[in-house]
Amino acid sequence: YASAAEKDLVVIGGGPGGYVAAIKAGQLGLSVACVEGRGALGGTCLNVGCIPSKALLNSSHMYAEAKNHFAAYGIKTGELSYDFAAIQKQKDTAVAGLTKGIEGLLKKNKVDYVKGWGKLVSGTEVEVAGADGSTTRLKAKNILLATGSEVTPLPGVPIDEEKIVSSTGALALKSVPKEMVVIGAGYIGLEMGSVYQRLGAKVTVVEFLDNIVPSMDAEMRKAFQRILEKQGLKFKMGTKVTKGEVVGGRVKLTLEPAKGGAADSLECDVCLVAIGRRPFTKGLGLEALGIKKDARERVEVDSHFRTNVPSVYAIGDIIPGPMLAHKAEEDGVAAVEIIAGKHGHVNYATVPSICYTHPEVAYVGLTEDEAKAKGLEVKTGKFSFMANSRARAVGDTDGMVKIVAEKSTDKLLGVHIMSANAGEMIHEAVLALEYGATAEDIARTCHGHPTLSEAVKEAALATAFGKPIHM
Ligand code: FAD
Ligand code: NAI
Repeated sequence: YASAAEKDLVVIGGGPGGYVAAIKAGQLGLSVACVEGRGALGGTCLNVGCIPSKALLNSSHMYAEAKNHFAAYGIKTGELSYDFAAIQKQKDTAVAGLTKGIEGLLKKNKVDYVKGWGKLVSGTEVEVAGADGSTTRLKAKNILLATGSEVTPLPGVPIDEEKIVSSTGALALKSVPKEMVVIGAGYIGLEMGSVYQRLGAKVTVVEFLDNIVPSMDAEMRKAFQRILEKQGLKFKMGTKVTKGEVVGGRVKLTLEPAKGGAADSLECDVCLVAIGRRPFTKGLGLEALGIKKDARERVEVDSHFRTNVPSVYAIGDIIPGPMLAHKAEEDGVAAVEIIAGKHGHVNYATVPSICYTHPEVAYVGLTEDEAKAKGLEVKTGKFSFMANSRARAVGDTDGMVKIVAEKSTDKLLGVHIMSANAGEMIHEAVLALEYGATAEDIARTCHGHPTLSEAVKEAALATAFGKPIHM
């Protein structure tokens, strides 16, 4: 074995959890190595997740705007078309630039980037199998597991990444399918379904439950579904797919009502399986060390991100909590602060969720139903973008803001925004919740005019005083 000097910390996994943790460790003066097996840094998020999906969402959104709305703005386009290979190339260029950028950041913060698949040998040793067949052992005072997640497979519907694809295949299609079926009306299904619908595919989304995106506020998700339907997405709710096979280049699916009943069939050119993700800890050697996992295969950690082996910590998608890149990053920073003897903490109650469709839907805190289920007496305030001057000026009025607050104290419990740019706008609400603000605090905060953010202020006025100004 080639062996290296003992590090303060070895991080296994170079995704948003792992690489951010490694950078923070370098900044705090710890000696640190980051082990990554996929040949590029940035994890799921950068390589096959957040970043490539947002590139495709942007290109397809601009095309749909040009096709459907430019005329209303008085802009003539002539005959409009797209070059899908060039759209894919723009995405690939963005991803490649960013992964290289992370390599630079690791270097700048004196993090050793070790290329290969890591495995725990003990609580203080990691064996790395390099792509060239070499094996290296790294000794460490502390080890941080950040190996992320993988697609949850659907029994009976085998993924081949060409005809029956996961999000990874859906991000790399060579052409736009004529007909697409998406299984699962969650984040991936709605974002990738939107991409291909905008580019001309007939998209049907099959969802097991009676609602899309179960974590969204009920009122928001109902309005959201109506808007997506208006755009052309079709939904088959309360339906499960029991079988999928490729016959003569077409995908044939067998469906059943979720509550039981007669089987039905559906055909398409490409089927996207997007029913969730599960923790990825294969080959990591957890079993040999007796590291505990819960019933959903998530690594169990205490409030200090520590597993039951005291020198081994875990963060990101492999532990409980929302499977989101920004949550993984926060975990990583807090875990490293704790390892360095400081006081890291992540407040999962204020992690924002953002669905990057058009309109975007962004929310933080409790839904109205969640607040009521907690036994809280709530009041709500709403404001439609139909009454927001900026939305009217730019002709993009789909959506609303809904605020949930405690009735007796006016304290904010949850903020839900559906509009263009909601993902950028949600952060004033995140900050407000972090500071324990009331609806009146937002209502009395001066908001620039004319902005979409004024709708947040108006919804806060409706919550605090029962009356917005402009509605
Ligand atoms: P990952 O990003 O999965 O990184 C783990 C890394 O560890 C991987 O690179 C893997 O190769 C490596 N690894 C695993 N095992 C080993 C080993 N034994 N040795 C060495 N390396 C190993 N989240 C958002 O917040 N916003 C979004 O817009 C968003 N969009 C998404 C779109 C899609 C299509 C998908 C699939 C996900 C999206 N997510 C999004 C979720 C986000 O990607 C994850 O929550 C995030 O990447 C989790 O970070 P992580 O560091 O825990 O794990
Ligand atoms: P998801 O959990 O968001 O949604 C899965 C959907 O599939 C749910 O609505 C669920 O009810 C449904 N479902 C489950 N089993 C089913 C079945 N057998 N048949 C039909 N429907 C079924 O999972 P998704 O979309 O795969 O994304 C995985 C995770 O990746 C997300 O939970 C999120 O954490 C992350 N992500 C985040 C994004 C963002 O922040 N914008 C974008 C994409 C992914």
